[in-house]
Amino acid sequence: MDHRLLGRTGVRVSPLCLGAMNFGGGTAEAEAVRIVHAALDAGINFVDTADVYNAGDSERLVGKALAGRRDKVILGTKVHGRTGLGPNDQGNSRLHILRACDASLRRLGTDYIDLYQIHRPSPDIPVDETLGALTDLVRAGKVRYVGCSTHPAWMVMEALAVSERLGLARYVSEQPPYNLLDRRIENELIPLAQRYGLAILPWAPLAQGVLAGRYPAEGPLPADSRAMRQPGQANIYADRVTPSGLAVGRAFADLARSHGRTPGQLALLWCKDQPGVTAPIVGPRTEEQLFELLPVLDLSLAAAERLACDALVPPGGVVTNFHNTAPWMKTPIA
Ligand SMILES: NC(=O)c1ccc[n+]([C@@H]2O[C@H](COP(=O)([O-])OP(=O)(O)OC[C@H]3O[C@@H](n4cnc5c(N)ncnc54)[C@H](OP(=O)(O)O)[C@@H]3O)[C@@H](O)[C@H]2O)c1
Repeated sequence: MDHRLLGRTGVRVSPLCLGAMNFGGGTAEAEAVRIVHAALDAGINFVDTADVYNAGDSERLVGKALAGRRDKVILGTKVHGRTGLGPNDQGNSRLHILRACDASLRRLGTDYIDLYQIHRPSPDIPVDETLGALTDLVRAGKVRYVGCSTHPAWMVMEALAVSERLGLARYVSEQPPYNLLDRRIENELIPLAQRYGLAILPWAPLAQGVLAGRYPAEGPLPADSRAMRQPGQANIYADRVTPSGLAVGRAFADLARSHGRTPGQLALLWCKDQPGVTAPIVGPRTEEQLFELLPVLDLSLAAAERLACDALVPPGGVVTNFHNTAPWMKTPIA
């Protein structure tokens, strides 16, 4: 397996990162620990979680699974989402970031975070306040590197410029949604990342399972699927299962099988080997799902596969909106 540099840093990461968003939710403790151990045993050295995943349980389970192996792993977590009912229990203020970092360290059972990421922008908070707090965390030895997530390209660029102007910690990575159904980051963010040496760590590489055969082409959604686990009017996960996405998913599954791969493997491989991508974050709910995807660590996307994928969804295009948790992208795409 080839390791890849995490942006301009000297840190080498596996070309897949293990995402822990299901841990403590769809994935109970024992299986979560087994998933982490299986991923590390297969050579993955990069793990991603967030303070808000399942109210902190994801961080707790990751910490538990990494006991005794912490120094073998590049550990990323995030701050921004709501962690309490108070007016200051969310966002990118200095106050919240410093408190949230200590809480994450406690839950993770570690004294440093390798990659501390701003989960979403806070447009009403000056970015120099956020970068100043992150810089202090780096100087205090609590954080090694800082990054951002689901930021539009112009906000990433603004942050890089402010870091340079004020001598503050610089984002080394951006974590955007990216899969064959939503290729929009190819238009602005990927060229920016390539020019300025930013790591790109895509989330939802399987389009939440739509590209992995998780959802039937017709009929009700599976009761145990992510789209159905959080029923309610504002269900961002159900919104990502669209008729047009399912139609592409069907053609994509045929394409994958014609190349001797499962749909999930081709979806992940496509994402891993797209220009500018450092490491997609694979987020299995079960051990079985992980085992199906692990071979992708050692595979390369063939030119014919790339062309066939481009024929399904053209570069820069979009079929389903995966930015629907981003404040500036709430409007569904027609
Ligand atoms: N920065 C952010 O805002 C952000 C947002 C989302 C995620 N993330 C990170 O990125 C990671 C991955 O994101 P994601 O979970 O959306 O990615 P994803 O890989 O596109 O979707 C994961 C879901 O796909 C299904 N799946 C997984 N493996 C499968 C397989 N082999 N066959 C069929 N279906 C399969 C499962 O659905 P079921 O659960 O329905 O079985 C699983 O929960 C997360 O764990 C988290 O660390 C970050």
